[in-house]
Amino acid sequence: MAIIDVIKAKAKADKKTIVLPETMDRRTFEAAEKILKEGIANIVLIGTEEAIKENGAGFDISGATIVDPFNDPNKEKYINKFVELRAKKGVTYETAKEQMEKDYMYYACLMCKCGDADGVVSGACHSTGNTIRPALQLLKTKPGTKSVSGFFLMEVPDCDLGDHGLFVFADCAVNTDFDSEKLAEIAGLSAQSFKNFVGDEPKVAMLSYSTKGSAKHDDVTKVADAVRIAQEKYPDIEIDGELQLDAALVPTVAALKAPGSKVAGHANTLVFPSLEAGNIGYKLVQRLAKANAYGPVLQGLAMPVNDLSRGCYADDIVGVVAMTAVQAQQS
Ligand code: ACO
Repeated sequence: MAIIDVIKAKAKADKKTIVLPETMDRRTFEAAEKILKEGIANIVLIGTEEAIKENGAGFDISGATIVDPFNDPNKEKYINKFVELRAKKGVTYETAKEQMEKDYMYYACLMCKCGDADGVVSGACHSTGNTIRPALQLLKTKPGTKSVSGFFLMEVPDCDLGDHGLFVFADCAVNTDFDSEKLAEIAGLSAQSFKNFVGDEPKVAMLSYSTKGSAKHDDVTKVADAVRIAQEKYPDIEIDGELQLDAALVPTVAALKAPGSKVAGHANTLVFPSLEAGNIGYKLVQRLAKANAYGPVLQGLAMPVNDLSRGCYADDIVGVVAMTAVQAQQS
């Protein structure tokens, strides 16, 4: 069974409520119809009556909850929550109301914060920054986590590496600067994500252009320090590095370059040393190996919010909603 079907089945087993705020886009309605029909999640659509009528024409969204941000009995509660959370950043009643009416992503995050929804999926017609920022500001990180990062669940066809071709790659989407502490935290979060979505034991490789001291540079030291921190912080998780990609994945190379490592040659969770490496890395595998790349899925947020590619299809939205619902089951 394809991994996305396993995830959809998991989502259906304990249905969560996911908000889709992009009612200005017809793909949202196409996806909502499929999600409701398949029973993957309960759906909340945020939009005015006119927008829902116009953009949703032809789709059966009768099972969705519609929230009109200009005429919602709960609006006052959300505005007050927004002010409570962001007053120190200069947010007033008026600016909160204006922001929520202008940008439904804020409205969606406040619904989650007030317990009226379990997660949000957006980004079909908004940039990654504009999708993530409201979640960072309002939902914040989960306890004990400093940084949110973004992973891809990679499904590589005809591949016997990793977990039968399944991998988590991170951070491919969020952090533009990394220190060793942050890399170590990404390793811990990525291991949890692998366990959550794939179900098997994670084996985390902290990647570099050096294997176990074969090269000397500050970049290599940063990863080696991250490995030490991560091994101390997460003693129950198999984490090793610094490793070159071939040593991480291929048993014969691992035997030569990192003998004795429990991770080298068997890694299924790859932590990249920079956003450039992670972002380019997942796209290379997606395009050259024709892999399915599910994500970016955000990890480390207190409640799940996920971003879409602006070129996405309705089926991609359905998949990301299923992943968000599964994350909500763990929240
Ligand atoms: N984890 C937790 N909180 C964070 C993080 C993080 N990684 N980054 C920022 N924040 C918090 C800040 O502390 C701040 O909180 P505050 O307002 O309560 O003080 C808030 O988020 C806003 O932070 P800013 O520093 O003002 O950051 P900004 O709004 O400029 O951007 C963002 C944050 C959107 C995540 C930015 O880092 C970004 O654009 N990253 C790259 C995204 C990207 O373009 N990725 C590649 C494309 S995705 C793809 O190809 C799949």
